[in-house]
Parts: sequence; structure tokens; C-alpha cells
Amino acid sequence: MEEGAAADVEDVAGAVDEDCEGSAIMISTLPALGVGLGFREPFRSDVLFHRDRIDFLEITADHYLDVPDGKLQELEMLADHFTLIPHGLSLSLGSAEGLDQGYRNQIVDLVRRIDPPWWSEHVAFTRAGGIELGHLAPVPFSHEAIDILAANIAEVQELLDTPLILENITYDFRLPGDELDEGAFLAKLTERTGCGLLLDLTNLYTNAMNHGGDPIDLLDQLPLDRVVQLHFVGGHWEQGVLIDSHSQPVPAQVWELMDFVLARAPVRGAILERDENLPPFESLLDELERARQLGRKHGRWPLPTSNGP
Ligand SMILES: [Fe+2]
Repeated sequence: MEEGAAADVEDVAGAVDEDCEGSAIMISTLPALGVGLGFREPFRSDVLFHRDRIDFLEITADHYLDVPDGKLQELEMLADHFTLIPHGLSLSLGSAEGLDQGYRNQIVDLVRRIDPPWWSEHVAFTRAGGIELGHLAPVPFSHEAIDILAANIAEVQELLDTPLILENITYDFRLPGDELDEGAFLAKLTERTGCGLLLDLTNLYTNAMNHGGDPIDLLDQLPLDRVVQLHFVGGHWEQGVLIDSHSQPVPAQVWELMDFVLARAPVRGAILERDENLPPFESLLDELERARQLGRKHGRWPLPTSNGP
């Protein structure tokens, strides 16, 4: 991590407002990282070769838990060249039965090891009745779900000073029990926990296409002042349903949403999440540059491309 960032991180755990169980995230003190890529193994040599065109990397935390030393050396090699943001998949913050203590401890150890400016998880559950579901399941947008999420989040916040940001997910269906719309739910959740938001623009767009609603109206309902980071990528259509497959170039509609959000939210970084149907690396770099220019236009990361360390 860059030297200045360490000091910034310490400032983040500052003010606590009275309605907030956790320390309220102070986004203005977080470093503006710019635009980067979700690291995947096939990208290893390309990200190093093109490191002057990638501002930071997001790593999937689960890929570095309980792994041989060689895999951890990969992490250290990446950290020599980039600021790394850990992104967890399986903490299951929405589980009413509480957190899996072993997994929780591994995540805490990893975040401490990386010492990032922030880390992220999903507003979702991946475990129920002790069974791993293998995917991110949506929580009902209810007051009870906020209580459950807040309790689980408080448990990890007790162990980590590093700010946590929460990602909106895609869902095929809504569970019964919604009492709030998604925007109001996320506003209450972030206010209660002090967390920031990882706004996945593609997830928001996908849900709007599959369940109805104008994406801009959905954005207007969100607490945009809490948005620390963005995700973006393209999915594909299958029998009238937009599939969140991370397999296509970023569609025009998502670029428009990015422009809208970057004009209004204090975004500190954006990550392209391409997983499938990998194109020539140059086209991914072009997408990073387009996002970088959008952020510059709105003054979100005014400096030229620079890596962390
Ligand atoms: Fe995402």
C-alpha cells in the first residue's frame, strides 16, 4: 500500500454518530484509487505487464484462505505492485444463525495481512441451517434482516479497524417479507452499521431489467453519499432474462449509469469484474481507461494513472 494510505485508514475509524453501531465510514479520508480490475489467475502476467494502466486490484478473499504458501506468495507479489482490496464471498452477513467463526477468523486474518484502505462483502446470505448454498442469496428487505446483518457486521467490525463496504447483489426472485425498497433498506443498513457501499452498477441494471423499474429511479433511492466503490461489467441475455455472467463488454446503459453516479457519489475506486468469455486483455484495458476518464471528468480521481506501492 502507498505510504499515505496507511495514515488515511487510521483516520477512517473516527466519528461515531449516535444512530450508528459501528464507526461511521469517513469517505473523504479514503484514498482515491482510480480504476482497476478484479484479479483472476488468467490475468496474472497481463496485469504485471500492463501495471501502469491498472490503478489497483480487487482480489477474491476466498481464493487466499487456507491455501499453500505459494498462493500467498502470489498475494505478496501482487501487493508489491498494486494496492489490493479484498472482496469476500462467503461471510454470509445475512445469516440469522450468525457467522461461521472459523471462516470469520480467516477473513479477519487476511484483511489484517493485506492492510487495505477498505474491504468488501455482500448484502446476502450463503449459508442457512449450516448448509453452504454455493451462491449469494438475497435477504428480505425487512427490519429484521437489518437487525441480523447489523449484528453480524458489528461482530467483524469489533475485530477489524479496516472499513467494510457492502455490495448490492443480483437476484432471480424476491423472498417474501420485503418491507422496504432496496434503496431505503441499504440506506438504513449503512446508517446503522457505519458501512460504505460497493455499488455494483451491473447488478442494479440487471435487477431493473429482470424485475422492472427504471435504473435511474433505483439509483435515486440509494444512499449515494455512501458509495465508496463501483463494480461494472456486462452480462448476456438468455430467453428474455439478463444473466449476470460477467462475460460481455460493459453495455452502453451501464456506462450511462456510471456517469450518473460518478457525478453524484464520492466514489474512490471502480473495478471491472470480467470472469468469463475473456477477450484480448487490451480491450479490458480500454474499458478501464473509459471508466478512468469518466471519473476524471467528475473529479473523482484527478491524478494520472498511478499504482499503489
Ligand atoms: Fe459485483
